[in-house]
Amino acid sequence: MSGGAGAAGGPPNLRVVRHALLSDRLARLRDAATPSGAFRRLLGEVGAILAVEATRALDEAETAVATPLATMRHRVLAAPEPCLVPVLRAGLGLLEGVRRLMPEAPVGHIGLLRDEATLRPREYLVRLPRDLGRRGALLLDPMLATGGSAVAAVARLKEAGAPWVRMLCVVAAPEGVARLGAAHPEVEVFAAALDERLDARGFIVPGLGDAGDRCFGTG
Ligand code: PRP
Repeated sequence: MSGGAGAAGGPPNLRVVRHALLSDRLARLRDAATPSGAFRRLLGEVGAILAVEATRALDEAETAVATPLATMRHRVLAAPEPCLVPVLRAGLGLLEGVRRLMPEAPVGHIGLLRDEATLRPREYLVRLPRDLGRRGALLLDPMLATGGSAVAAVARLKEAGAPWVRMLCVVAAPEGVARLGAAHPEVEVFAAALDERLDARGFIVPGLGDAGDRCFGTG
């Protein structure tokens, strides 16, 4: 379902997920005519597909399960489900879909706002579960642009004790993938697409615009 991390000479920390449903949803997310409600719903669907891929290789353990007919050995998750951490605001759109797969997973929040002049992230909220050290974290943000927000968010998760972090994003720019890889090389990025470049304002091209504004109708 996906090109492996570093596949075909790509960045070693990036896994571009290939799936017919994902391509279809991404086309509609990119479309400037897609209204806010549909945009949010599509983001959720993309989040679910990316989450399937990002959790495919979670550690498993064996246990006994008694079916109505027999007892059998069965594989189950070895650790509690990972914490889901949307980067506000646009990460909330991905969260809706990811939570359908993992409704019991705790949700942390990291609020970052990118300064439009400097493009640096400004942190305004961090609320993470206390038991993050027993779980990995899935960091949710549709955009990986300069990478400043992702680098800051991963640093917060590591400080809070997360044993591993994987990032789910919709569109990634080469600049952001490289910057995150330089700062946190062990963090794998699961993306629907690797886009061409950033423009002078730090927007991903061709991208999908400002995901937070489109998700919440504030553009
Ligand atoms: C956007 C996006 C990322 C960040 C990416 O958020 O959702 O969080 O910018 O940019 P970077 O890789 O250059 O740091 P924004 O600051 O616009 O906030 P919002 O989601 O509240 O609109």
